[in-house]
Amino acid sequence: MKLSRSLSVLASFSLATALPGRGHHSNKPPAFFLAGDSTTAVQSEGGGGWGDGFLSFLIPTAWGTNCGHNGATTVSFVEGGDWATVIGEVEDNKDEYDCWVTIQFGHNDQKPAKNITLQMYQENLVELAEEVKSAGGTPVLVTPLTRRNFVSEHNATDSLHDERLATITAAEESHTTWIDLNKASLAYVNAIGEEAAHSYNLAEGDNTHLSDRGSAVFGRIVADLLLQKKGYELGKWIERNETMTALIRAGLPA
Ligand SMILES: *[C@@H]1O[C@H](CO)[C@@H](O)[C@H](O)[C@H]1NC(C)=O
Ligand SMILES: *[C@@H]1O[C@H](CO)[C@@H](O)[C@H](O)[C@H]1NC(C)=O
Ligand SMILES: *[C@@H]1O[C@H](CO)[C@@H](O)[C@H](O)[C@H]1NC(C)=O
Repeated sequence: MKLSRSLSVLASFSLATALPGRGHHSNKPPAFFLAGDSTTAVQSEGGGGWGDGFLSFLIPTAWGTNCGHNGATTVSFVEGGDWATVIGEVEDNKDEYDCWVTIQFGHNDQKPAKNITLQMYQENLVELAEEVKSAGGTPVLVTPLTRRNFVSEHNATDSLHDERLATITAAEESHTTWIDLNKASLAYVNAIGEEAAHSYNLAEGDNTHLSDRGSAVFGRIVADLLLQKKGYELGKWIERNETMTALIRAGLPA
């Protein structure tokens, strides 16, 4: 207890001292808009992702909205109007907040019935990132959350590996910030093993969607990945949980 308190004091101290030299942070609090499919979305009968868990770590007056849509692809999210909502939020809030838009798709884009090639998926991600920038926000491309299927191919790579690589390529091509949730979540799931990994399932046998607890744990992974890349801007707005972070780093159930 005492140790973790002094660690977090130390962490905020070094963060505070690191701030003046950086230059590109603003004083506005961040607002987050989470674009994605059911592996980002609010916990419901048909879906549930990391989004709400992530948002629970925001320190007011930072805030955010989970815009994840069950079943969405990079195409349907735009065609169905969700994307216009996200862009509208950025435009409405950018004067008062630094608007961040996380973009995570792939689970449905990869279904053959959707008829979306990997190339199209990649181009769509570039387009979405560019539109956030044009609207005055900051996009973050997120590689897709791993499934917890525990098939033998699940170890070094998983069934979303191609989408992971396409997301990274889209980010690099468009000079967009990206975080590797696929890699981090796969490594974590491998480390804790099948039984613990399935304890985060929304429902028994559903290895894709997350329970409330799962949302907090995988939302923590997203928060920590963002803090690693953007700590100088987001550090004072995302609450730490050193206990949970340490358990995740150690590959233990959190
Ligand atoms: C799939 O997409 C291609 C290229 O856009 C199109 O030519 C083709 O008709 C589509 N197939 C189906 C089954 O929708
Ligand atoms: C990784 O491989 C090991 C050994 O083959 C296996 O026991 C384990 O279940 C695999 N992990 C996943 C997540 O599939
Ligand atoms: C921090 O994480 C630990 C481990 O998951 C959990 O037991 C605890 O409730 C969390 N603390 C807060 C303040 O959420």
